[in-house]
Amino acid sequence: MLENRIVDSFGRPLEYLRLSVTDRCNLRCFYCMPDERMKFLPKKELLSYEELGFVINELVGLGIKKLRITGGEPFVRRNMIGFLKGIVESHPELELGITSNGVLLGKHIKELKAIGIQKINLSLDSFDPSRFLRITARDDFQKVYGCLLDLIESGFQVKINCVVMKGVNDHEIPDFAEFARTFPVSIRFIEEMPFNGHGKQRGFLSYGQIKSILEEKYGTLDLQQAEISSSSFDFAPSGFEGSIGIIPAYTRSFCGSCNRIRISATGQMKTCLYGKNVLDLRGLIRSGKREEIKHMIINKYKVKEENGLQAEKGSELVSMSMIGG
Ligand code: 5AD
Ligand code: SF4
Repeated sequence: MLENRIVDSFGRPLEYLRLSVTDRCNLRCFYCMPDERMKFLPKKELLSYEELGFVINELVGLGIKKLRITGGEPFVRRNMIGFLKGIVESHPELELGITSNGVLLGKHIKELKAIGIQKINLSLDSFDPSRFLRITARDDFQKVYGCLLDLIESGFQVKINCVVMKGVNDHEIPDFAEFARTFPVSIRFIEEMPFNGHGKQRGFLSYGQIKSILEEKYGTLDLQQAEISSSSFDFAPSGFEGSIGIIPAYTRSFCGSCNRIRISATGQMKTCLYGKNVLDLRGLIRSGKREEIKHMIINKYKVKEENGLQAEKGSELVSMSMIGG
C-alpha cells in the first residue's frame, strides 16, 4: 500500500507545517540577526509562490492539518495577501496562522479578516519605544503596538511572542503578563535560542527563571501544554481575559510531542530546528522530480532525531530568519 501519512521514527504523526516565505526582514532583532551586514538571498533562491503552493498541496496530501506562515517577515514579500488568499481557497480546511513582526501587517488587517485568517502571532519584546529600538534597530514601536491593538479590536486570536533576555527586557515580564489581564491575548515568554548568526546569547534566562519571576507575582504555577504538541506551557490567572505561557525553546522539554515540519524560504525541509537532517525540496522541484517528493519526505522522517538535544550535535547555528522562525 502506498503510504500517505508522515510518521517519524518514534511513531509520531506530523501534522503541522511551518513554512517560511522569505529570509528578509524589515527589523534587525539582535537575537535573530548579526547586524546591518546581514546578507539576504537573491529572489531566485527563494521558492516562488507557485513552488510554495505545490509544497503545501503535497503536504496537505500527506495529512498536514495546521500551517503557519513565517519568515523573516512574511509581509515584506510582494503580494503576500494574494498568496494567503490562494491557500485559503485551495485548502479551506487547513488551520492557517501567520507569524509577523507587525510593522506592515497593520495595513492588511481588513484583507486578512476578509480572507478568514484568524490566528496571528506577533513578535514583540518591549512596551518601551526606546528599548524596542535597541532590540530591533528600527524605530517602529508605535506601528507594531497600533497593529496589536487593531488585531485585538478586530477579533483575531492573537499571541504575543516575547523573547526574554536578562538585562534587556526581563524587568518587563510582569507588564507583559498583566497585558493579558485586560486583553484576550496569549503572552508567550520565549527562551532565547542561539540562532542569531553570531552564536552568542547575551542574557540567557531559562524557563525555570522566567517561571520564578512569574511566581513572585502570581504564586505557585501549574503550567500545562494547551495542546499536546504545543511548545508553550501556559496558565491563566483567574479574572484574566487572556493567558500567559513560557516556551522552553532552548531547554527543549517539549520535543517528545513534536509534530512539526519546518521548511525554509529556500525550500530546505528540516526535521528539527536544531539539526542538520535536511531535504532539499527546491532542488527536487527544479530538477523535475516533483513526483518523488512525497515519498522522499516520508522517508526523511523515518530518520528524525528523537529530540532537539540529539539533533544539535555537530550542527551549525545560523540566523533564525534563515531557518524560518
Ligand atoms: N531565540 C528565540 N526566539 C527567536 N525568534 C527569532 N530568533 C529567536 C531566537 N534567537 C522568534 C521571534 C519571533 C519568531 C519568528 O521567532 O520572537 O516571534
Ligand atoms: Fe525580523 Fe523576526 Fe528576526 Fe526580528 S526576529 S529580525 S522581526 S525575522
